[in-house]
Amino acid sequence: MNENLLEVQDLKVYFKVRAGHVHAVDGVTFAVKPGEKVAIVGESGCGKSVTALSIMRLVAQPPGVYAGGNIFFENEDLLTLSERRMQKIRGGQIGIIFQDPMSCLNPTMTVGDQIAEGLRIHRKIDKKEARARATTLLEEVGIPAAKERYDSYPHQFSGGMRQRVMIAVALACNPKLLIADEPTTALDVTVQAQILEQISSICKEFGTALILITHDLGVVAGLSDRVIVMYAGKVIEEGETNEIFSNPRHPYTLGLLNSVPRLNEERQSELNTIEGAPPDLVKPPTGCPFMARCYFAKKICNEMPSFDPVEGQPTHRKACWVDVTDPNVQAYAERRRQARRAAQVEAIDEAANVLQGE
Ligand SMILES: Nc1ncnc2c1ncn2[C@@H]1O[C@H](COP(=O)(O)OP(=O)(O)OP(=O)(O)O)[C@@H](O)[C@H]1O
Ligand SMILES: [Mg+2]
Repeated sequence: MNENLLEVQDLKVYFKVRAGHVHAVDGVTFAVKPGEKVAIVGESGCGKSVTALSIMRLVAQPPGVYAGGNIFFENEDLLTLSERRMQKIRGGQIGIIFQDPMSCLNPTMTVGDQIAEGLRIHRKIDKKEARARATTLLEEVGIPAAKERYDSYPHQFSGGMRQRVMIAVALACNPKLLIADEPTTALDVTVQAQILEQISSICKEFGTALILITHDLGVVAGLSDRVIVMYAGKVIEEGETNEIFSNPRHPYTLGLLNSVPRLNEERQSELNTIEGAPPDLVKPPTGCPFMARCYFAKKICNEMPSFDPVEGQPTHRKACWVDVTDPNVQAYAERRRQARRAAQVEAIDEAANVLQGE
């Protein structure tokens, strides 16, 4: 018996566009154990949401195409199931929370009934029992005076409260896996922290596994057991959260971490953004997709590196040819960074001279 709850294997999801196919998810492999909390991070457009939607089998076809791979959930390949069977799994076994609760909640139905509906469909319980359970769920996600608020409509709730309702809907049937796709991006920072805390404690209480999707490495630090870093449709680094934070091995992860402000540490370098843009996913490069933005890049990076364990750390994997911990390699990257900076300053000076001359 496989110990993993979810196993995504070499998943490929493309979108047909006029210019060809967008390789949105391009060979993604990862697994989630029962009760485990996994964060998926990576910048906008790297394929996080498409990965999540694929697990729910909610990618619209067309333009989407499941071009390869498998998604095993409790040893059943979700990509081969009938739509009817899949409907049972959605909500019943796997719950999902999206960034914008208003687009998922039904504006014409009371919040309580929306939670009770899932319970009645998946758990086949009567109206009264469903109402009682839905009220308890509203309390559990932190809605004050849940009994009275049961009959409110979504527009009568604040953004944070609507997001809490979404969490209650997703958790109503006690799913084994909860996917939260940027669940707090639209909310202010204090509410954000409360909601993440709530998701985390509910998952712990019920033993629910969590996939938390975000582009912000900062929010995952205290919350996840493991981090998966995606770039241009691929997983480029994966490891236990403390390994990724204390010992990142992919230059892209280094860049992501360096763009998070830290209050408890004096840093010798200024906060860096990662310069440049990700590659065109219609014509992805055959080599490392981060190469064009990477100061560590060498000739070999024109070939795609395999996704291998980091020496001495079996749970930590990276898809990178270089050893970023080697002082010689670091010196080489620093020289390239300085050279790029100097070239940029020169270009700015030149442009200023041209303008002054006019
Ligand atoms: N329906 C579609 N048609 C064409 N391309 C699409 C479609 N949906 C997604 N894509 C492309 O697939 C890629 C991955 O998109 P995805 O939404 O998964 O990114 P993401 O990592 O979730 O980004 P964000 O952080 O902005 O939410 C992007 O390049 C996006 O433009
Ligand atoms: Mg997204």
